[in-house]
Amino acid sequence: MRNKKILIVDDEESIVFVLKKLLEDEFIIDTANNGQTAISLIDNNRYFVIFLDIRIPKINGMEVLSFAKKLTHPSNVIIMTAQNTMINAIDAMKKGAYDYITKPFEVDEIVGIINKIKKEEFSKDNLEIKNEDFIDSLLIGKSKTMQEIFKTIGKLSHNNLTVLILGESGTGKELVARAIHINSIRSEKPFVVVNTPSVPAELLESELFGHEKGSFTGANERRDGKFVQANGGTIFLDEIGDMPLDLQGKLLRVIQEKEVERVGSGKPIKVDVRIIAATNKDLRLMIKESKFREDLFYRLNVIEITLPPLRERKSDIPILANFFIKKLAKELNLPEKQLHESTLAFLQSYNFPGNIRELENAIRRVMIMSAGSVLMPEDFYEIINLNGPAIKNISEKIKSDTNTFEDIIRHKIKNYLEKIKNIGLNDVYKTIIETTEKILIEEILVISRNNQIKASKLLGINRNTLRKKIKEYNITQKNSDK
Ligand SMILES: Nc1ncnc2c1ncn2[C@@H]1O[C@H](COP(=O)(O)OP(=O)(O)OP(=O)(O)O)[C@@H](O)[C@H]1O
Ligand SMILES: [Mg+2]
Repeated sequence: MRNKKILIVDDEESIVFVLKKLLEDEFIIDTANNGQTAISLIDNNRYFVIFLDIRIPKINGMEVLSFAKKLTHPSNVIIMTAQNTMINAIDAMKKGAYDYITKPFEVDEIVGIINKIKKEEFSKDNLEIKNEDFIDSLLIGKSKTMQEIFKTIGKLSHNNLTVLILGESGTGKELVARAIHINSIRSEKPFVVVNTPSVPAELLESELFGHEKGSFTGANERRDGKFVQANGGTIFLDEIGDMPLDLQGKLLRVIQEKEVERVGSGKPIKVDVRIIAATNKDLRLMIKESKFREDLFYRLNVIEITLPPLRERKSDIPILANFFIKKLAKELNLPEKQLHESTLAFLQSYNFPGNIRELENAIRRVMIMSAGSVLMPEDFYEIINLNGPAIKNISEKIKSDTNTFEDIIRHKIKNYLEKIKNIGLNDVYKTIIETTEKILIEEILVISRNNQIKASKLLGINRNTLRKKIKEYNITQKNSDK
């Protein structure tokens, strides 16, 4: 578990050396011999513990301490002083240091402090995990319209009424559907999603209702459909506006009879399923154009929830933005960042055609790309563009927002280069490429449980090449059964 980081800040080389030797088996160690380097490292990394000398060049230790404690993820700072000067110690503790030690120190003293911090962090982590489960399905919104929607969700918890959720893309329709399920008496039963447009039209009926063996080419086995899978729980029919007309008729019958028939069967099966449907299309218009069945519409539209576009509830932007910063910091293992006041104003001046999803994606990119701990409007300029042409195809931009892998790598490399630029290494290319290759191979071996044939297939390289690399990098094949 060598993923936690420790920073040692001291201009006395012998101290740095001793601490490093003591801790480097268990932690990743960074070092700084002056306050300025320390601050830039702290700004760009998340340190579990910082050992900090008070009297260091450039910026003094107390200032480094204040800086470290101001972050949303403050590290545990241990102050090191040369002589036992009480004033420094008291001052340090007041400023939020975790502990202080006087030099020279005993090895046991350091081990004791680290163990104590580990214990405390462990209980903190456990608390956080519980919150995280909750956060996944958490709906945020202070605005009046969102508050009304929360009340409706509450009222729906005691009955099985069919719900139709309307709203533009990215307004949170799926999240609301999940919230209805989780808050209902069916919450222990399955929540099954059918994303209509993602299933080829000719397979949709079987996807929904199941099929008998041999009922069509490719039906090699009898299969239950999503309605049967959702029995006792909730089925979420997403993008219902994309459902072909003939299936609309079949769906209507299922709702009326509360039973489904597998394709090729003719035998009805009773199902008890709550239906929640959603669309960003204008179903009423589609009815006029004979593209959606009116009778099905009224069956689905027992309770209608219309989610407002984000531009109509801009007062929610600050809490949403802060919520995403917290959520994404955890997800991406990055430090939490602050939003400058002017950034909040900037975000609120934008119309977010891609709604909450666009806001979330913008924050994800900024978290990865920006170096500072406070997010400024400029950080968003390339991502959201108030009047530029970007807005026109913004939804495509959001949909193709899968280049985060590239962003993550770029972020890591930038950080690394920043760190080493003063040291003047000359084998950066080799280090980065080889380290990446080594890690990739190690991780693939874990996934493929040390099966080299499988691993080489996954990598798309020849097995002998893989063997050679394993040898070259001295990769020990760990037990992957964890
Ligand atoms: N009120 C909210 N609070 C927090 N997060 C939200 C909220 N609404 C939406 N989100 C988040 O925004 C993203 C988009 O939401 P969701 O997928 O539910 O939208 P949608 O309306 O189904 O969009 P689409 O029509 O494109 O499928 C998700 O990551 C979701 O978690
Ligand atoms: Mg959706």
